[in-house]
Amino acid sequence: MNILITGGAGFIGSNFVHHMVRFHPKDMIVNYDLLTYAGNLENLKDIENHPTYHFVRGDIRNRELLEYVFDQFNIDTVANFAAESHVDRSITEPDLFVKTNVLGTQTLLDVAKGKNVKKYLQISTDEVYGSLGPDGYFTETTPLAPNSPYSSSKASADLLVRAYYETYGMNVNITRCSNNYGPYHFPEKLIPLVITNALEGKELPVYGDGKNIRDWLYVEDHCAAIDLVLHKGISGEIYNVGGHNEKKNIDIVELIVDTLEKSHDLIKHVTDRLGHDRRYAIDPAKIESELGWRPQYNFDSGIKETIQWYLEHEDWWRKIKSGEYMDYYKKQYGAK
Ligand code: NAD
Ligand code: DAU
Repeated sequence: MNILITGGAGFIGSNFVHHMVRFHPKDMIVNYDLLTYAGNLENLKDIENHPTYHFVRGDIRNRELLEYVFDQFNIDTVANFAAESHVDRSITEPDLFVKTNVLGTQTLLDVAKGKNVKKYLQISTDEVYGSLGPDGYFTETTPLAPNSPYSSSKASADLLVRAYYETYGMNVNITRCSNNYGPYHFPEKLIPLVITNALEGKELPVYGDGKNIRDWLYVEDHCAAIDLVLHKGISGEIYNVGGHNEKKNIDIVELIVDTLEKSHDLIKHVTDRLGHDRRYAIDPAKIESELGWRPQYNFDSGIKETIQWYLEHEDWWRKIKSGEYMDYYKKQYGAK
């Protein structure tokens, strides 16, 4: 496989690049990433000189550069992780989410079609299904009902992927995963924000009553699912990915505080997120029965390993939180 991994410098993308280097050492990997605030080459420092790994700084909206890269590396497979991924930012800056997540995906799909790639995989999210009440699960046939500009842009991208399958017969798949956690998670998201704020003795902001539910999956389990879908996914199919691990936000925050032996006084209930989805929960029966995927990590050990990772990688998150990394990359790659 000569695979283009877009967004490979972000949280899940960089974990997936590591996964590929480890489990598919003969495949050629091209990490194509714009290095927005969320892209961080430090995530890939340990493999930057690996012989099968290449990095290109580029925008998925840049057709010319994409065409050059597809030709140069003879790309036959695409895994599109590149996106604006943070719901809160989508509430204040929705236009960027449409540009990156919708127009970017369409440009990438179109170039991939022109270059006759063998497989295009769109990394999507359970948020496209909207919000659940206290019962039930998202299946692949649950109607799309996104509520935030982020989830609407991801749902739009999914519909374009579907259109390229139906109209042009492209070999595509879509994965829709629940909330990931693990190493290299950017500290704007709940789990790394709470771990790092607690370590710094800062307040831990909990939106609303803290009883919103997310279905958490260790990032390596998501990477293994993506690997399976790339190799065995049936063309045109969607696969939901989740490990039946629903948690209330407040329970996660308290667990982190207790594990770090900090005071519960740090926890602060703040104004709720606009349009805050109440509950997500994935039914993973399809990927389990058709592709044989099973999560390998349980939450109790996964969250402890994650907390330990942040304790051991203080340099990594302090640079991000102090803005030092932003200064670094502007110097390194030019201001933008
Ligand atoms: P992230 O924000 O950590 O990383 C996104 C990456 O995309 C960054 O490296 C960024 O530089 C890059 N990028 C942004 N705009 C780009 C552009 N125009 N061109 C090229 N690269 C660009 O995101 P993440 O949490 O790793 O999520 C990765 C993908 O997985 C996203 O598509 C997201 O919707 C999806 N997803 C995330 C989760 C989760 O819990 N984090 C769950 C399900 C699905
Ligand atoms: O479900 C998959 C999605 O999970 C992905 O598609 C998104 O890219 C990813 O960011 C994530 O979205 P969420 O909005 O669920 O994740 P976040 O970490 O931002 O928030 C998790 C929950 O915690 C949510 O209910 C909001 C709440 N929260 C979040 C932050 C940042 C707080 O209470 N306080 C906070 O400061």
